[in-house]
Amino acid sequence: MDVKTDVLIIGSGIAALQAALVLEKHFQIQIVTKSSIYMSSSYRAQGGIAAVTSEEDHIQHHIADTLKAGEYHHEKRHVKTLIKDGTEIMQNYLKDGLPVDRQVDGKPALGLEGAHSHHRILHAGGDRTGQIFIDYLLHKLSPKTKINCYEMAYELLRNTDGDCVGVLTKGEKGTKRYLAHHVILATGGAGALYSSTSNFPTNTGDGIALAFRAGAAISDMEFMQFHPSLLWCKNEAKGLVSEAVRGAGGIFVNAQHQPIMTGLHAQLDLAPRHITALALFTKRAAGEETFIDITNIQDFEAKFPTIAQLCHVHHVHLQDGLIPVAPGSHFLMGGVIADDKGRTTIPNLYAVGEVACTGVHGANRLASNSLLEGITFGQKMAQFIIQKGCHQKNFLLEKHQCPDKMPPLFSKPQLQQHMMRFLGIVRNIDDLQHFVKQLPSLQSLIQVNLKGLELAELELFMMHVVATLMAHAAITRTETRGAHIRKDKSEMKSQWASRWIIFSQGQMKVRNSLYEYHQT
Ligand code: SIN
Repeated sequence: MDVKTDVLIIGSGIAALQAALVLEKHFQIQIVTKSSIYMSSSYRAQGGIAAVTSEEDHIQHHIADTLKAGEYHHEKRHVKTLIKDGTEIMQNYLKDGLPVDRQVDGKPALGLEGAHSHHRILHAGGDRTGQIFIDYLLHKLSPKTKINCYEMAYELLRNTDGDCVGVLTKGEKGTKRYLAHHVILATGGAGALYSSTSNFPTNTGDGIALAFRAGAAISDMEFMQFHPSLLWCKNEAKGLVSEAVRGAGGIFVNAQHQPIMTGLHAQLDLAPRHITALALFTKRAAGEETFIDITNIQDFEAKFPTIAQLCHVHHVHLQDGLIPVAPGSHFLMGGVIADDKGRTTIPNLYAVGEVACTGVHGANRLASNSLLEGITFGQKMAQFIIQKGCHQKNFLLEKHQCPDKMPPLFSKPQLQQHMMRFLGIVRNIDDLQHFVKQLPSLQSLIQVNLKGLELAELELFMMHVVATLMAHAAITRTETRGAHIRKDKSEMKSQWASRWIIFSQGQMKVRNSLYEYHQT
């Protein structure tokens, strides 16, 4: 069955909805999403949205914090765009009535999170920011925008000129073919490749795998951010305990109530995440349990209703003052290379939000910059598409040569365990090489024929594509930078500064820019 539309958006998080809102005034929009409209990291976001709205703060401070947290591995002009344009867009949302939490004087109540020099985190409903923002956008969206849920995109379609003109999806009712003038990947991240994660199980990096197989350039896959504080019960991660809890006075402690972030880590409960995650990982590897002491936080349940409920469901008693936590995968800084208009290296294919790599997060994203990224680049991309218009005439599809059968794959739980063990918070060359030998080759991943596969098989395959890219990138970057921590190469190396590991057309290269025109 064929569905024709002007603009096809794959995914339903904040970047997807922001783009749809701008575009629907001009074009026919079709959203396709793998699960329910609410199964996105945006919807789950607790902390909030970082934006400069107070007189004490300044855009330059926000830019400086972003660069420092990400170890200066950025596309700096895009960081400036994110912070400047993002602040303006947020200020418009505030004027427009986005229901953020406010102080008694009516000014927004601003939270503090890791590596921010100022209180600048706008939040809503305490820790229900994502949910409230997504509901707000969905309410604004007109019924003209069509939304199809529970369909997984598994193959991008290119025409005989090489432009992206659609996608194949699979749902309970079988396969569908969508054709469009513009195709937007807004599929989110890949946290679910790990056994301990803050992400929904559906975050399996599908957009990156689709784009890689279609020949688009991908980068920064070695940089997976681990969040230091996931609720930890019965040896499993049960959801996020926002950094905003530490911003409100919570501190990391061991079972004896002794602070963890002392000595070298003094006063660093709000350090960048690669530092806090590593500190907790190290404690736990030495057999200690790790907690957040919340005894200094008044009215915890009113300030953090989602976390209070999560604790309640898992029989963690807040009156004891300790929440058991452990690190887990949270946000992928890498993804499909895109510019500030969402353009990828394939004409008419766009990437926005966590699936994209625009160089704004560097080697470690600054907390609460991701919702800002979604609204800012979602809007800029939509404005670019409006300017461009819908003029595709060639919907004649290129003939696909995918002759190969599926290579041997891990089961999903096996892969998730291996990712945690071999590509987790601390990596070393022996483990990485051992792991990569068991994964399919880059070239073979492109040539596998996906026809006739069941949904679960497709998802598992996508996970292996992403895992393979991550493993190769982690082996290649022979240094420690931000979230990529190599035990055998524990220093940051000047020869790796401003170097990007890029996958394109099944090959891997190291370049001195994210963008082709600087290729070395
Ligand atoms: C948190 O609330 O701790 C997560 C916020 C983020 O990842 O930006």
